[in-house]
Amino acid sequence: MKLIEVKTYEELSEIAANIIAAQVILKPDCVLGLATGSTPVGTYKKLAEKNKAGIIDFSAVKTVNLDEYEGLEGTHDQSYRYFMNKNLFDNINIDKKNTYVPNGCAADLEKEGKEYDELIKSLGGIDIQLLGIGVDGHIGFNEPDDFFTAATHPVVLDPSTIEANARFFASADDVPRKAITMGMMSIMQAKKILMVANGKNKFDILKASIEGPVDPKVPASILQLHPDVTVIYSEV
Ligand code: PGA
Repeated sequence: MKLIEVKTYEELSEIAANIIAAQVILKPDCVLGLATGSTPVGTYKKLAEKNKAGIIDFSAVKTVNLDEYEGLEGTHDQSYRYFMNKNLFDNINIDKKNTYVPNGCAADLEKEGKEYDELIKSLGGIDIQLLGIGVDGHIGFNEPDDFFTAATHPVVLDPSTIEANARFFASADDVPRKAITMGMMSIMQAKKILMVANGKNKFDILKASIEGPVDPKVPASILQLHPDVTVIYSEV
């Protein structure tokens, strides 16, 4: 794992955007694995600026997102589909038909998960997967557990995740209790992984993920087994 420590969120966003831009330049029809959360927002803003400046072209790019809340339609302002449209897709020249987010409203989320993994496979796999990290070590919504789950699957959110995400909702009671997340297989099969972590509250879990044992209680620790991971960390 390669760790890049920077001083500011601005720098983190600039480096992350440059790495993703490089991927798009090298392979204009690449598959980007994308993430939600507050950390990637700056990266997406910079990617949109680079697109506007003519430095990168998203017209042939495909994207697959990590996760979605159960029961939230794409029009709900807290759904991850809505987040992606607002923070990235509406601001770049991507064809929305080429952007995929798991459907949290599917009648059968297990089936949706299987189909999502098939979709990723049919696209040729993920060229670079952007990840945040939860305070509990989750990647996507792969929460701490007794085992790693390979397939894209429904999950019950950890209380710490509900608490962390309550800031986006009217109250913690409004945060959906369940979600669907890309599993470890599709994440680990990405050719490259780029993790962004911002804030002192992420330091301990990041250290455990990078230096501790590979343990499903610290889901991000599985990344130690991936051959090409870059982590960008900024304390503020
Ligand atoms: P954050 O979320 O970027 O809002 O801190 C990260 C995550 O939960 O994966």
